This record gives sequence, C-alpha cells and structure tokens, in this order.
Amino acid sequence: MIDLLPIHNNPKASISYQHIGRTDITRFEKMHVEVFSDSGTASIAVAREIAELIRKKAAKGEICVLGLATGSSPIKVYEELVRLHQEEGLSFKNVVTFNLDEYYPMARHNAQSYWSFMHEHLFDEVDIPPENINIPDGTLPLEQVYPACMAYEEKISQYGGLDFQLLGIGRTGHIGFNEPGSSNQSLTRLITLDHLTRVDASGDFHGIDKVPKRAITMGINTIKKARRIILLAWGYKKADIVKETVEGKVSSVIPATFLQEQQNTTILLDEEASAELTRFKTPWLVGPCEWTEPQKRKAIVWLSHNVGKPILKLTERNYNENGMSDLLAIEGSAYALNIKMHNTLQHTITGWPGGKPHVDDSHRPERAEPAQKRVILFSPHPDDDVISMGGTFLRLVDQGHEVHVAYQTSGNIAVADHDALRFAEFTRDLNQLNRVSTQELETTIDELQQREEASEIDSFRVRAIKGLIRRGEAIAGARYCGLPDEQIHFLNMPFYETGRSKKNPLGPEDIQLIQDLIQEVKPHQIYAAGDLADPHGTHKVCLDAILQAVDNLKDQPFMQDCWVWLYRGAWHEWPIHEIEMAVPLSPQEVEKKRQAIFFHQSQKDGVMFQGEDSREFWQRAEDRNQATATLYNQLGLTEYEAMEAFVRHHF
Ligand code: F6R
Repeated sequence: MIDLLPIHNNPKASISYQHIGRTDITRFEKMHVEVFSDSGTASIAVAREIAELIRKKAAKGEICVLGLATGSSPIKVYEELVRLHQEEGLSFKNVVTFNLDEYYPMARHNAQSYWSFMHEHLFDEVDIPPENINIPDGTLPLEQVYPACMAYEEKISQYGGLDFQLLGIGRTGHIGFNEPGSSNQSLTRLITLDHLTRVDASGDFHGIDKVPKRAITMGINTIKKARRIILLAWGYKKADIVKETVEGKVSSVIPATFLQEQQNTTILLDEEASAELTRFKTPWLVGPCEWTEPQKRKAIVWLSHNVGKPILKLTERNYNENGMSDLLAIEGSAYALNIKMHNTLQHTITGWPGGKPHVDDSHRPERAEPAQKRVILFSPHPDDDVISMGGTFLRLVDQGHEVHVAYQTSGNIAVADHDALRFAEFTRDLNQLNRVSTQELETTIDELQQREEASEIDSFRVRAIKGLIRRGEAIAGARYCGLPDEQIHFLNMPFYETGRSKKNPLGPEDIQLIQDLIQEVKPHQIYAAGDLADPHGTHKVCLDAILQAVDNLKDQPFMQDCWVWLYRGAWHEWPIHEIEMAVPLSPQEVEKKRQAIFFHQSQKDGVMFQGEDSREFWQRAEDRNQATATLYNQLGLTEYEAMEAFVRHHF
C-alpha cells in the first residue's frame, strides 16, 4: 500500500526532502509545500519517491500505475528515472502509465506531440512494455473522442486507479489541461485551451497561430482520485499562480486550488516559484523573522511601498503596524534605521559602472582602480547587450574602458522565414547580376517558400542565413555603441544549433569557447544575463556556461581581480532590494539606447517569440528602466529618467 499522508507528517514516509526555508504549515498555506534551492535537487527527490514506489510494488508482484505529465517541469524527473534505470537497475516492467493530456488534433510523430515528448524523455530510454503506455489519442476523428475518453477513464479504473500522479501547473492555474472553469467533478474530455496556455506553448510551435486550440485531458476528478499527487513548479513565472493555488480560495477559476482538498498532495517548488508565498515575500507578517541585512532591506522597501511614503518619512507606528516592531527593537529607532537604509540604497547608484577613477570607492558599487578596466559583456542572444544594458554599455565605452562584447549564440531560431527568404533572394539576385547562379541558394529558397509545418527543423543553410542576419545586426549595434570590430566576438555556442526551440544540453565545447575568450581578455568585469527563471531557457544555459568557465579559471591570478555583474533580460527586472548597482540614464542616453536596439531589425514588429506582451523590445526596455527609476524615486532617492540595474555574483 502506498502512504497516503503528506511526507512532512507521515511517519511511514521514507523519502526525506532536502528542503530550505520554513517547513511549518503557516496560517496562509492551505497545502503541503516543500521548497528546494533548485529544481534539479527537487526533481531527484521526486524520481526517488517514484522509484521506491515502483520497487515496492514489484516486490509484491503488483503493477504500479503512474499518471504522468509533460512540459518543462518534469524533464529532470524523467532524466533521473532514466539514470536510475540505466545505472541502478530500476525496471519499468511492472509499470503502467497514463498521460494527462495530448493536443487535439495532433499526429503522434509530430515534434510537438506529447506522445513524442514522452518517448523522447522517458519511454524510449527504459524497459516499459509499449502496451503499458497510455496517452490520449490526438489522431481520432472528432466523433470518436468522447467514447475514447470514457474508455480512458475505464482503463484507469480497471488497473485499480492511479497510484501516483505527477503534475505541472500552467500560468492559468491549469493541471493537466483543465483550464479555468473546469469542474471539480470533470473527467477525461476534449477541452479548449486558454489563450495564455497557447501563448506559453507558442515558442515550441513557432508562433501562436500554429498552437492547437484544443486538447484532450484527464479531468480534475480523474487526477484527484490518485493515491499520491506531486505538483512541480519552477521559476518566477510560476510564482503568482503558485501563491494563488496554495493560499487562495478553492475555485474553478484556478483549477489547481481543488488540490487543497487532497491531503495526499505535495507541491514542490524552487526558490523562485516560492517567492510570492507570504512566508517568503513578507515573512514579518507571518511571525518572528530573522533580521539579516538583506531581509531588513527587503522589508523596508516593502514597507515604504506599502504605506506610500519615502523611507526617510517612515514612522515607528508604520513599522509597528506592519509586523516589524521586533526590527525596531533591534535597531533602536525608526530614525536611525531609515537613514541607514536610505544611505544603503543611495550607495547603489552610480554613473560610473566601471568604477570612478581616483576617488574613495568605499561606498561605491565598483572599484576605482584600475581606472581603465577590461570588460566582457556576454550577450546570450545578439541583442540582449543593448536591450538589457545598452545605457551602461555606452557609458563603459565613453568612460574609456576596453569593452568586448561576446554574442553567445547565433540567435538564428528567432528569425522569421520571410526575413531569411528576403535575404536569400537578395543574394541570389545579386549573384545573378554577376552571372553566378548558385544551386544551393535555389534549394534554400525552395525550402523557405515551401515551408508549411511549424515543426520543421531549419536546415543548416537556412540556419546559416538566419544567423548571418542577426550577426549583421549585432555588428551594427555594437559599432554604434563605439566598439571596434576586433572587440566584437561571436561564440556560436554549439548547444544552441539544433534548428528548433529545443536545444541540446550544454557541452564542454560550449564552456571552452567562453573560457578561451576570458583567458584572452583577462577581464576586470564580466557582465552576464542573470535570468535564472526558466531552467531550460537559453539565458540560463548561457549563464551556466559562464559560471562554469569562471569556476574552471578561478585559480588563474587575473581572476582574483574579476567581478561578475548580472543583468536581467527583456522581461523582468531585479527586485529593488536586491540591486547592488543602479546606473542612471539621462533622456539623451535613453534615446541613444533606443537607437542601438533599432539595429536589431529582425527582432522588431511581431517577433517570433513575442509571448503575451505585444510591446517591442525597445519599449519594454524603456518601460522597465523608467519603472526602476520611479521606484528609487518613490523610496525618496533622486529622480532620474531611467536606470539599469545589476546584481553582483559572489562566488
Ligand atoms: C502537461 C500538462 C500541463 C503542464 C503545464 C506546465 O502534460 O498537463 O498542465 O504541466 O502546462 O507546463 P510547463 O511544465 O512546461 O511549465
């Protein structure tokens, strides 16, 4: 028999999760939540629980019935299960699986089908008998879907129900594809996908128009009958929906809240996905909290925002009424605390991102010496440099530092076919003028003109053209910022070159490319994209590669003098209390930054991976930089037009 109680109060449970943070169920949380430092550690814990269940059942000669999910969240769980199979002899011979859902209509072998996903990530790698695999069938004619859904339910029942159900959560609050409005009693059925779900899937399908509008999904009731449920959520994008699921009212508006009624459910989060939970966001409202310096900063920024006053105007009463009286007791008075915090924030602001030469730098974010620094600005895609830190880039060059920019990937996947076609035809026509007809170009033009399926993988030639388009744009942008050509580097990291959204894992050759450049330049400063949110996103992979390269080089003398600053990508800014360097931009600098972004023509107007935000990159960058300046100003600091923000990576 499987243990029905949640792990934290189940004396029989044998898996111990290596969680961080507070484990008591607070008065805000209505579900059992475990928070891990990262999704990898959490996924290993889940895989172990599944493996133990499979083994226990096998020992008793029983079948283990697993409900499985697709999407980015469970990938590392499947990786660990495959490893357990290959290295520790875990057998799937006694396992029967039922997948949560499948797009409709959807051919099995389509790259985007959940059938393909499951075979690629798990089934092809383990010894599960093919007849034990059940996935809703996206190929059925419409009239056969309903009976097939009923048969799916029946088959689950015949096996005695699901022993274990693995879940992810969509930003709409869906589990499976039970979108808002789904009833608590719903069973397996055909549903219409929510617009936001289709937006989130649009990256995989090369545009929202190609995402199916419907799907077949197990119902809420089907899921809830499982004897053990684990829901996974990683990254800041899930933080809001996680809070609503765990702390909100049970309602079909957020279908995942129905899990609050299931005592056998555990929600596993990484730190980012847990960030909006009250116990992490505002722990002082929950109970006594540990007043570290970062916690004080976070609390006072929050208090100032909450009561709508600049820091220097906060009163003792404001602190007492907002759960922070113990902080006042430690610090003595609101007056002293306010001044201390105001100064701390003031010291993060500098117009000298490379350090102000020959001055006292004890209260400045960067060192004064050496006055002229060598800098490498790593840009995951060919436009992140100017979008995310164009103003700082311009200042570093103007202030005489030797700035190198390194474009980590070709970015070819984000160039539309019509742009590639335009350039291919242009090259062909130019060649024809010179009476050189190139057969290869004709083939490429045919490929681009005949493109129908979103799932088609770009050929090497198409990728080369798309990569060249982005390369030309990046060179123009970097030259505009004042860089000589020899300081513009294209790394073309191989992990990215798959011709589709799904990338290869990071390999030693990717890291070597970065290491070689760092060794050549011997930088005093490295700027890198610190987007930690999406564990499979290109920015995160690019950052992992840099951190690995830096770690490999850490014993080299020049590295003792190398500081790493992290900027955020186009969508998200560092929270104010975490910012360690804020670089103000004048209205003229904002204008110049906009011009630099304009060089990235292929990423303007209806870009391929737009998401739900219809603003162009330059607008997002300006809105974000202006919002940071406004927030600083609301805290009582000087009013600037805009600000770019950085956090230092401490080793
Ligand atoms: C997948 C499924 C969905 C996903 C959810 C989260 O089978 O049923 O509910 O779990 O959309 O997707 P990711 O993990 O990609 O964020």
